[in-house]
Amino acid sequence: MKIETAKLGRQELHDLIGTAISPLPIAFISTVGPDGVNNAAPFSFVAPVCSKPAIIVVGIGLRKTEKKDTLKNIEFTRDFVINIVDEPLIKKAIQAANEYPPEVDEIKEVGLTAIKSDMVKSPRIAEAKVSLECKLVQKLEILEEIREGQGLRAIVFGEVVLAHIKDEVWADGKIDPARLKIIGRVGQNIYCRTHDMFELKRISSI
Ligand SMILES: Cc1cc2nc3c(=O)[nH]c(=O)nc-3n(C[C@H](O)[C@H](O)[C@H](O)COP(=O)(O)O)c2cc1C
Repeated sequence: MKIETAKLGRQELHDLIGTAISPLPIAFISTVGPDGVNNAAPFSFVAPVCSKPAIIVVGIGLRKTEKKDTLKNIEFTRDFVINIVDEPLIKKAIQAANEYPPEVDEIKEVGLTAIKSDMVKSPRIAEAKVSLECKLVQKLEILEEIREGQGLRAIVFGEVVLAHIKDEVWADGKIDPARLKIIGRVGQNIYCRTHDMFELKRISSI
């Protein structure tokens, strides 16, 4: 089977890419708006692209023709927090993807706790085992097909300036993935646990 991507619709191509490049992470992004209302939503078109500086990219599409609250807030504060989604957080993260009006504090709405960050204005989520405070470094806009025509997808580049890691997932100077129990996304509404891990040693460490 060969598929020329130009022949696929937006949703079909989204599903193809989202499964071919998977498991994708689920970054539960918390932000704050100009009116002081906290916001959180899950994003899986997310990837680390540089280690030092630690740069993470996030693709934020449009809701119909409107910018999502996460993007509006990032443009306002020029920062955001990536809260890592583990087994206890996954259902709440998915719930936060519902289309709430901007005046709703989605962190509170899904039963989680927002706490002040140290180096950015966006709050972090207290229940997350790992939260990464990020400062906006750059934003690219790409013309994309959306449900009702075309629009600009923002690709935001954030530098991780502070990592919060709970002691319970820290072992031997590292995050222990067996303790973190991170969740991945392997297709549209399909997720995976990370129970079955194995190690393969290689000669070079770079
Ligand atoms: C698991 C999951 C991953 C998602 N990934 C993305 C993504 O990478 N980019 C995006 O624009 N929307 C993504 N969404 C949809 C947003 O979470 C959704 O549009 C949300 O309502 C945005 O909220 P906001 O307006 O508060 O920013 C994802 C939804 C789910 C459930």
